[in-house]
Amino acid sequence: MEKNHRGIGEANGKIILLGEHSVVYNKPSIAIPFPAAKIHVTVIYQKEPTTIHCDFYHGLLDDMPELLESLKATVKTCLSRLNKTDNQLSITIDSHIPAERGMGSSAAVAVATTRALYHFYQTDLTQENLLEIVDISEKIAHGNPSGLDALMTSSSIPYYFIKGQPFEPINLNLDAFLIVADTGITGQTREAVASIAEKLNSSNQALYQQKIDELGHLAEQGRTALETNKASLLGKLMTSVHSLLRELDVSNNQLDHLVATALKHQALGAKLTGGGRGGCMIALARTKYQAETIAQALHQEGAKKTWLYQMNGDTNE
Ligand code: MEV
Repeated sequence: MEKNHRGIGEANGKIILLGEHSVVYNKPSIAIPFPAAKIHVTVIYQKEPTTIHCDFYHGLLDDMPELLESLKATVKTCLSRLNKTDNQLSITIDSHIPAERGMGSSAAVAVATTRALYHFYQTDLTQENLLEIVDISEKIAHGNPSGLDALMTSSSIPYYFIKGQPFEPINLNLDAFLIVADTGITGQTREAVASIAEKLNSSNQALYQQKIDELGHLAEQGRTALETNKASLLGKLMTSVHSLLRELDVSNNQLDHLVATALKHQALGAKLTGGGRGGCMIALARTKYQAETIAQALHQEGAKKTWLYQMNGDTNE
């Protein structure tokens, strides 16, 4: 292989519409790839020992020890599966997915890095192998990952997903806009996942299990809403999901405040997305004008960044 050879890989961000957390317990969930926020990884040879350089839209890799560890695990797993012992690689990650915001940044880093390494070594990578490798990294980043982030950041279409079952593509038919807003607060996926696990082991187990079951039912109904253009219904389901996630103690004040702000400005529904306790919230609007009005209000109330996503079409920042 030529020394100036270059491997490239990319991945999308992801947004969970319904079913975060309950997906860990084999309940249905719905997520969409989020191409408005992408990661690109480049691998080349260098004279020095292997380095990983990462530009995040905020923060440094060194300040995110779990992400750094999971990334090292990705590289190690890939090299071992590829039967390579190279230690002179320059791996550059250019990320437009905010890290630790519930947008699948850690999975996307693993997906794009794996793709770049396989491309570098000119080896075919099946989707199955990719998901296996990313699962190893995600266990380090999240403890008990459902596999949802890995699937979404490596896909281009929305999926209905139950852990351990075949992924079902969603036939998206929804005339609506999604607003995604970054609270600017680091999400706590690992802690939130662990805290729900604790609740499900406590004396109140039955109560919490009911909430997890209900989250699964809401995601099931959401699929019909997405496939039959029922934006108002989807909005209501989203708001109900937020209430349940609050009751499971994975929201926080700023997420609750931004959800209330979106609803006050005629959002059809709003909720946190992803692991929670920080990270991002999402809201649904029928028209672009409504979506822009909501995004503006969210900025005024402290959102650090917003994205608009036309559910059946293009993405705009
Ligand atoms: C994290 O983006 C989503 C969670 O459901 C965890 C997981 O699915 O692995 C909270």
